Amino acid sequence: MAKILVTGGAGFMGSHIVDGLVAKGHDVLVVDNLSTGNPSHLSPNVEFVDMDVADNAFVNVAKSFAPNVISHLAAQASVPVSMSDPILDARVNILGGLNVCRAAVEAGCEQVLYINTGGALYGEPEYLPCDEEHPIRPISGYALSKWTSECYFRMMLPDSIPLKALRFANIYGPRQNPQGESGVTAIFAKKMLDGDAVRIFGDGEHTRDYVYVDDCVEAHDKAMSYGESLVVNIGTGEGISVNQVFRHLQALTGYDAPPIYEADRPGDIRHIALDPSRAKRILGWEPKVGLLEGLEKTVAYMKSAYA
Ligand SMILES: NC(=O)c1ccc[n+]([C@@H]2O[C@H](COP(=O)([O-])OP(=O)(O)OC[C@H]3O[C@@H](n4cnc5c(N)ncnc54)[C@H](O)[C@@H]3O)[C@@H](O)[C@H]2O)c1
Repeated sequence: MAKILVTGGAGFMGSHIVDGLVAKGHDVLVVDNLSTGNPSHLSPNVEFVDMDVADNAFVNVAKSFAPNVISHLAAQASVPVSMSDPILDARVNILGGLNVCRAAVEAGCEQVLYINTGGALYGEPEYLPCDEEHPIRPISGYALSKWTSECYFRMMLPDSIPLKALRFANIYGPRQNPQGESGVTAIFAKKMLDGDAVRIFGDGEHTRDYVYVDDCVEAHDKAMSYGESLVVNIGTGEGISVNQVFRHLQALTGYDAPPIYEADRPGDIRHIALDPSRAKRILGWEPKVGLLEGLEKTVAYMKSAYA
C-alpha cells in the first residue's frame, strides 16, 4: 500500500483513477479546487483538500501527507478556454505544474505521474499514428502549457524521482462533463438524450483517437508499477471522425436530427491517433474496451446520472 497524492482527483479522469487506487488499498489524498471537478465523484474513502495547486500552501499540504507517489492531473483541460484565456491556462498548467514539481521534491516523494495530452501535443501530425518521437508542435495554448509542464518536470525532478509522463489520447466515459467545452462524446450523448441540437465545429471529418476511461486507469496503474522514468502514448492507434461518433451515438440514443455544422475552432487539430506500441512493449498495456462498447456505457451512464 502506498500513499498517493492525486491532484485533480475530483475531475473526470482523476476520480476514476482515485477509485482504482482506493480499490487496490492505497491511501489517497486528493487536492482539487473544484473549478471543473465534482465533489460527488469523490470516493468517501479519500482525504480531500479543496486547494489550488498553484497555491504556495500546496507544498505544505504535500509535505505533511508525505506521499510515496504524486499523480498530477489538475489542469485547465479545455483547448477553447486556453485560446480565449491563455493566461489562466498558463497559470494553472505551467505555474501549477511547477508547484507540484517543487512539492514532489520537498515532500520526498518516490515518483511522479504526469498526465499529459497526446491528443493535442503533437499538433498536425507528419504521420499517423504518432509515436512518442513525433515532433512536438503545439497549436493551442493548452498543448503548449501541458508540454511546458512536462519539460519542467523532466528538468526539475532529480534522478531519484522517476517521472512517468503519460500522453493520453481522447479519453471518454462516465462522469465526463457534458456541459464542458471538450469531451465530444459526453456533450453529444447528453444533447441527444435531451433532444437538443448537436453542433459540430468544422465538417466533422476531423479524427480523434478515443480511449475508454477504464483503459486509462489501467495504464496509470501499470505505469505506477514500472520501475523507471518513462514517456508513453496511451491510445488505440486509430482515428475516428467526429461524424462517425455522431452516427454511433445517434444509433444508441435514437436521436434523428442531423448535426448543425459550424466554423472550425482555433486550436483544434484536424487529425490525430496515437501509436500505443511502446505502452504495449514496456507496460503490457493495450486498450480493452472498443468504441461501441464504451459509447454504450457512456450513454447508459448519462441516462442514469441525468434521469
Ligand atoms: N479528457 C481527456 O481526453 C484528456 C486527454 C489527455 C490528457 N488529459 C489530462 O487529464 C487531466 C484531467 O482531465 P479531465 O478530462 O479529467 O478534466 P477535468 O476538468 O474533469 O479534471 C481536471 C481537474 O482538475 C481540477 N483543477 C483545475 N484547476 C485546478 C487548480 N488550479 N488546482 C487544483 N485543481 C484544479 C478541476 O477541478 C478538475 O477536478 C488533465 O491534466 C488533462 O490535461 C485529459
